Amino acid sequence: MPNIAFVSPKGGAGKTTAALLLALGLNARGGRVAMIDSDPNKPLVHWANLPGRPPRVTVHPAPTAEDIRDALREAQRLDPDWIILDTEGSVRGAMAFTALRLDLVLTPLAASQLEALQAIKAAEMVRQFGKRAGRTTLHRCLLTRVPAAVRPKALRLVVDELRASEIQLLDTPLIEKEAFRQLFMVGGGLEGLAEVGQSGLAAAQANAAAYVAAVLALLDQAKTSEAP
Ligand SMILES: Nc1ncnc2c1ncn2[C@@H]1O[C@H](COP(=O)(O)OP(=O)(O)OP(=O)(O)O)[C@@H](O)[C@H]1O
Ligand SMILES: [Mg+2]
Repeated sequence: MPNIAFVSPKGGAGKTTAALLLALGLNARGGRVAMIDSDPNKPLVHWANLPGRPPRVTVHPAPTAEDIRDALREAQRLDPDWIILDTEGSVRGAMAFTALRLDLVLTPLAASQLEALQAIKAAEMVRQFGKRAGRTTLHRCLLTRVPAAVRPKALRLVVDELRASEIQLLDTPLIEKEAFRQLFMVGGGLEGLAEVGQSGLAAAQANAAAYVAAVLALLDQAKTSEAP
């Protein structure tokens, strides 16, 4: 059962959105997904309380650090195929990732220098913890909220900055899409968003599916390189 966490000390980086898109995408491929919402603002709990939650996507609140073990136990009882942890956007909140043995940590960031610095900080937190715990955790940054008409120069600067710190990016960025925002107002999955125009929705669905495929390919690749 792979465990994946979304971690960044930067508030509003896009963690919860990327976490939910991954959960919905894995569910669409037939997976049972348990999400642990360790943000005291409980954005995923709110989403789950809206209509349309796929029954095989569950949300388990852990509003304080002490609650994470219980939420994990509750999640594991459902025997999920995936566990996804969403953390709060603060240095303290980000440390929630240390409560789980993780197969992958993703750090969303927008294509700006400020966000790159925060993403580097997140990568460093994961690296340092791995060193102390005696195991390395697979980590990738994830560009998100990328405007459809992206300025290639801004993008290149961020990619170069991350590369200089030996941080890798997931192949597929998430585009800035109204549909991704709407999920948290309407509930359920992308397919239920009638109010987003048909073309906007199709593009959002294609982008979300490509992102989920990139995560799966990365985990596959990691598994293969681990095998004796
Ligand atoms: N790809 C995207 N397209 C459009 N809007 C997005 C996208 N990703 C995130 N957003 C919007 O940006 C805002 C912040 O996103 P989100 O809540 O996912 O970030 P977060 O890192 O979880 O924040 P926090 O640190 O507060 O938990 C939200 O309003 C969300 O709807
Ligand atoms: Mg969040």
